[in-house]
Amino acid sequence: MQGKLAIEGGTPVRTRPFPPQKKVGKEELKQLVDVIYSGNMNRFGGGEKVDQFEEEFAAIHGRKYGIASTSGTASIHVAVGMINPNPGDEIITGPITDMGSIVPILYQGAIPVFAEVDPYTFNMDPADIEAKITDRTVAIMAIHLFGNPCDMDAIMEIARKHDLPVIEDCSQAHLSEYRGELVGTIGDIGCFSLQQSKHITCGDGGITITDDDEYGMRGRLFMDKGWHRAQYGPRQYEVFGPNYRMNELSGAVALAQTRRMHEIIDTRRARGELLTELLNEHDSPYVKPQKILDGCRGTYWQYGMRVEPEAPFTPGEFAQALSAEGVSCGAHYIGKPIFLCHDALRNKRLFGDSDYPFDRASREVVYDETTTPRTQEVLDRLVQPMCPTQFMSEDDVRDIAAAIIKVSSLLGQSS
Ligand SMILES: Cc1ncc(COP(=O)(O)O)c(C=O)c1O
Repeated sequence: MQGKLAIEGGTPVRTRPFPPQKKVGKEELKQLVDVIYSGNMNRFGGGEKVDQFEEEFAAIHGRKYGIASTSGTASIHVAVGMINPNPGDEIITGPITDMGSIVPILYQGAIPVFAEVDPYTFNMDPADIEAKITDRTVAIMAIHLFGNPCDMDAIMEIARKHDLPVIEDCSQAHLSEYRGELVGTIGDIGCFSLQQSKHITCGDGGITITDDDEYGMRGRLFMDKGWHRAQYGPRQYEVFGPNYRMNELSGAVALAQTRRMHEIIDTRRARGELLTELLNEHDSPYVKPQKILDGCRGTYWQYGMRVEPEAPFTPGEFAQALSAEGVSCGAHYIGKPIFLCHDALRNKRLFGDSDYPFDRASREVVYDETTTPRTQEVLDRLVQPMCPTQFMSEDDVRDIAAAIIKVSSLLGQSS
């Protein structure tokens, strides 16, 4: 079966294309048709779909409040708006993420402080979170990377000790399980993206969940320009906030997707876990699947692997050889810690010529190669082979496993 590597002229493991990922269909169309016939495309114009989406998504998570918005970034901005930091306050978060986790912190005048990640789980290291706490820290934002739950027991213990709220960025982690609990319900606030590539989607969208009345009410106002619509008479804006209202067309699709969320995740998780099982049977000393903590279940938004330094190939060479086998593979995910991916952030020049919000900090904040060197090493070793999806059969997953095993056994090794 193994033969010669495709990159050296051998036969690729996979020559057929993998199934396409068409995420929406009849159920979404049915909900959309209701909206078009109703003529109400705005949630406050008599629409019902966004309300239903919020209610059902929150109920699945056992939370009192679900606040829909226009993106995952917006859902995180709503969360930071709930916390309501003072300019210059600090929020500790992870350096392997999308800019959508960071922009909301800065727009609220707060300062992102980055904790190192663990080399095997790729998630934030609780010990480094605690080491980064100062008297200006107002929250911890945990990021469940690739749908893999963070070490929430340790994070919550630190948060309680220092009396800090925890925001969970679950943009990649719908229905991921942490020791019997759903992510997004362990901390104080959970945020989800419904962007096209996410587990459930309405093209672009987001939702923030919480059980806390004060956060819930503040977040609801924040999402709608602070407008207290329940009151009659002169307009009353009670919170300073943007317009992040989800429209009814997005709400209709988000509702249908939420109703299918368990089915989508069950299949996707089964395919992801099958891949891990097959790879563990082979147990390559050189390429290891992302570690999942005991009692946790991921949802495989991407399939992360670590190429060990002892491997006779680089992560880039591995990715190239695997892609030649017909199983596409990326290397290094975002490449650099997120603060180095953005010149304006690195230079701390975000609002015109000002130093805001860094001029409100009580200490100098540095974003350079010395900020999270361990995380750079983790990114340097990271590869992302094609992730099993809910659209794949078990045989598709077996082909992915066979290709990974072939490349990790043959590449750079004399037979
Ligand atoms: C971890 C994480 N946080 C936040 C976001 C932002 O989500 P959106 O693109 O919906 O604004 C993303 C999107 O890729 C993400 O992966």
